[in-house]
Amino acid sequence: MGLKIAIGGKGGVGKTTVCAVWSQLFAADGFEVLAIDADPNTNLAMAFGLGAEQSPEPLINMKQLIAERTGTERGSVGAYFRLNPEVADLPERFSVEVPVADADKTVKLLVLGGITQAGAGCACPEGAFLKALLSHTLLQRDEIVLVDLAAGVEFMGRASIQGIDALVVVTEPGQRSIETTNRIAKMATELGVGYTAAVLNKIAGAGQIETIRSQLNTAVLAAVAYNPAVQKADLDGRGVVGADQHLVEQLRAAKVQLQAVLPAARQ
Ligand SMILES: Nc1ncnc2c1ncn2[C@@H]1O[C@H](COP(=O)(O)OP(=O)(O)OP(=O)(O)O)[C@@H](O)[C@H]1O
Ligand SMILES: [Mg+2]
Repeated sequence: MGLKIAIGGKGGVGKTTVCAVWSQLFAADGFEVLAIDADPNTNLAMAFGLGAEQSPEPLINMKQLIAERTGTERGSVGAYFRLNPEVADLPERFSVEVPVADADKTVKLLVLGGITQAGAGCACPEGAFLKALLSHTLLQRDEIVLVDLAAGVEFMGRASIQGIDALVVVTEPGQRSIETTNRIAKMATELGVGYTAAVLNKIAGAGQIETIRSQLNTAVLAAVAYNPAVQKADLDGRGVVGADQHLVEQLRAAKVQLQAVLPAARQ
């Protein structure tokens, strides 16, 4: 079975950036990669440099499909619905192939949207549908799966965590980010996630690394420098992967660390 990595953290810390860069690095290594945007505020496609017209429609918006699979009529509320809808065909049908820079490879991108509700156990067809789809990809698929989670601790439900081999929490220099990381790590342990570690991001000076490390209750995989070129790429609407080689190299080092602790992700 392929490795399953979820990427969490406070809002704006760099979750989507890490998810996009790692997806491309794993694909360039020769792994089959499925990247899942599970943040209700979807923007993983943008980090891959896809324009609005190339970005896949979030599955949560596919009302007819959800109604069919959950056995409900459109718009009906409180009606009976299937808790275990058939979803195995959906990753192939609804993912788009994103080309990997400088490699003859692609990443499959699947955009869920709205998983917060499912993670929180929303008793509605949409919740059951997303939960089933995420669980399916985490438990049944044998690629490397990287999940870009919703910000904060709200995503934390069994659906988004069950089957995860590693939860990577992106952490920036700031108390709110550090506290969020510690809360996420604590919940992950309670939910039985096997391995949780932080990637420090937007670091300005080596002194910050020790300050953050001393306050975290998780291992630290690597530290990534604050990098104006990355922010500029976002402002210009360009993909993050080609934004700056230094960022990519630092995230490659973080990935190598993760592969060292998780043998299934080694070549
Ligand atoms: N190392 C870095 N240096 C400078 N800017 C960065 C760095 N990493 C990420 N950024 C920028 O910070 C912003 C937030 O990054 P990103 O979207 O990856 O975070 P996020 O955690 O996914 O945010 P959200 O919670 O909104 O989903 C973006 O503008 C991104 O380009
Ligand atoms: Mg994001």
